[in-house]
Amino acid sequence: MSDERKKESKHNKKVRLKKHEGKIVLITGASSGIGRQASIDFADNGADVLILVARSESRLYELNKILQTNLESNRPKEVVVYACDISKREDVIKMGKEILQRFQYIDILVNNAGFGIYGNVKDQSIEEIEAVMQTNYLGMVYCTKVFLESMLLRHSGHIVNVASLSASFGVAGLAGYSGSKYAMLGFSESLYHELYGTGVGITVVSPIGVKTGFFNNESFVNHKPNYTGFMLESKAVSKAVLAAANSRRLEIVVPFYLRAGVWFKHTLPYLVNPLIGAHFRRQLKSKM
Ligand SMILES: NC(=O)c1ccc[n+]([C@@H]2O[C@H](COP(=O)([O-])OP(=O)(O)OC[C@H]3O[C@@H](n4cnc5c(N)ncnc54)[C@H](OP(=O)(O)O)[C@@H]3O)[C@@H](O)[C@H]2O)c1
Repeated sequence: MSDERKKESKHNKKVRLKKHEGKIVLITGASSGIGRQASIDFADNGADVLILVARSESRLYELNKILQTNLESNRPKEVVVYACDISKREDVIKMGKEILQRFQYIDILVNNAGFGIYGNVKDQSIEEIEAVMQTNYLGMVYCTKVFLESMLLRHSGHIVNVASLSASFGVAGLAGYSGSKYAMLGFSESLYHELYGTGVGITVVSPIGVKTGFFNNESFVNHKPNYTGFMLESKAVSKAVLAAANSRRLEIVVPFYLRAGVWFKHTLPYLVNPLIGAHFRRQLKSKM
């Protein structure tokens, strides 16, 4: 291939890769892990406006600095740092109003903010279980509600909900967390059917364990995964988030082959459930 052709093919590849050219993207949980990586990757894929949401304003500003400096050629036109606790309904409503006043619409909403608390149900407080549900499930519902109508009016937009494989497998030690992700998947599946033919889409991304700040919660102190083997990098999940934003599918499992595990669990639950149950029960007992 001539140098000229090589250059052209490289250019075309880059153009093809820019799947989110000109998009306005709002990402919750952008200050760390998957959300942080997805923000960088959306910018790299041509997003025009990035709205970064999390509680830690300082970490969002740090990310903004990276977006402004590291991505010289793919710098978004505008980055908005918005500190918001998505578990607080009134704060999310205020955020939605302000963002819509400023931009009129968003193209992509990534509901990614979330956390888990590890432990036996009998040892956890009701408040702990409520807090997980309030952020992981209701926070997603609040954000979806404040932006959905504007998407429907334009017949355009996509919601990406970052759930977990815990939305398909109840895991001993993570009942509150699994419950919140099952709820997220159920809500998303219902909304998926409601949105049929509207031009607005919703896709759930369900990863296995990811090497992020997720395990910094103090409840994991004796239960840090040994970052080997099956654990994913944020980059792999971020790639799925970007693909999800253009997808017609309801759910993308990461890695993709674990979709077979979900199928086996639903098809042969009496074989799969005891195995999964025993594995995580053993872990829970040995670490508590
Ligand atoms: N890591 C895993 O193994 C794994 C596996 C499957 C699914 N997931 C899911 O992936 C998503 C991202 O988690 P991660 O792994 O990237 O963990 P992470 O590094 O701890 O990031 C979590 C993000 O959520 C934000 N957040 C938490 N509570 C919030 C609240 N009330 N309001 C606004 N932002 C909030 C955090 O920011 P602030 O603290 O600044 O608010 C942070 O940016 C979560 O929904 C998690 O359940 C993670």
